[in-house]
Amino acid sequence: MNVLVTAGPTREAIDPVRFLTNRSSGKMGYELAHAFQAAGHQVLLISGPTSLDVPDLVDFIPVESAADMFEAVSRHLGRMHLAVFAAAVADYTPVTVAPEKLKKSAASLTLELVKTPDILGSARQPLGFTGTLVGFAAETENLLENARAKLSRKGCDLIIANDVSKPGIGFDSDHNQVTLVYPDHAETLPTASKHDLAHQLVQTILELHLQRQL
Ligand code: C5P
Repeated sequence: MNVLVTAGPTREAIDPVRFLTNRSSGKMGYELAHAFQAAGHQVLLISGPTSLDVPDLVDFIPVESAADMFEAVSRHLGRMHLAVFAAAVADYTPVTVAPEKLKKSAASLTLELVKTPDILGSARQPLGFTGTLVGFAAETENLLENARAKLSRKGCDLIIANDVSKPGIGFDSDHNQVTLVYPDHAETLPTASKHDLAHQLVQTILELHLQRQL
């Protein structure tokens, strides 16, 4: 099967030497890409900048910004059977990128930001993806409610939600605790290493994919 995984943060340029980003390490997405590959699938990993090694035998497209990631996903999603969007895509990007390094002069500086494309939210429409679609939701409050809303708004089959306000799990950590949110039920898994969790999630996602074919 062809599997697409997005991972990592994005970088939104302010000027030639500065950018906006977030604390995503990319670990969860890279572990998922590895686990899908180990389960015998053809994996394309589209990732923002991380310090991780690309898993062996996984196809890789490095990107910087949300716009770059959107472009790469748009180009490849059509031939995928399954897609997992684990990237922590910036929600906003500077309206313009200064062509030269911004000078320190005024006492304050206002950056004007504009929304980035919602890549996962574009998968069904306008990109026309009909395969199994899995998203992540990093929440600090009302985890279930927000994840359910995301599931239906973005046309996902499953949202993997985690509470990023809990210390020691999620962003920039080796461990994670997630709740699987389906259209009709939810299930919280025990805290585990991202490596172990990825193998478990891949089994769950592959079963979901099979059920979808029935
Ligand atoms: O809406 P929110 O950003 O919380 O949704 C998170 C999910 O949407 C994740 O799966 C993330 O990879 C995806 N996403 C995306 N493009 C964006 C924002 C989020 O693919 N611009």
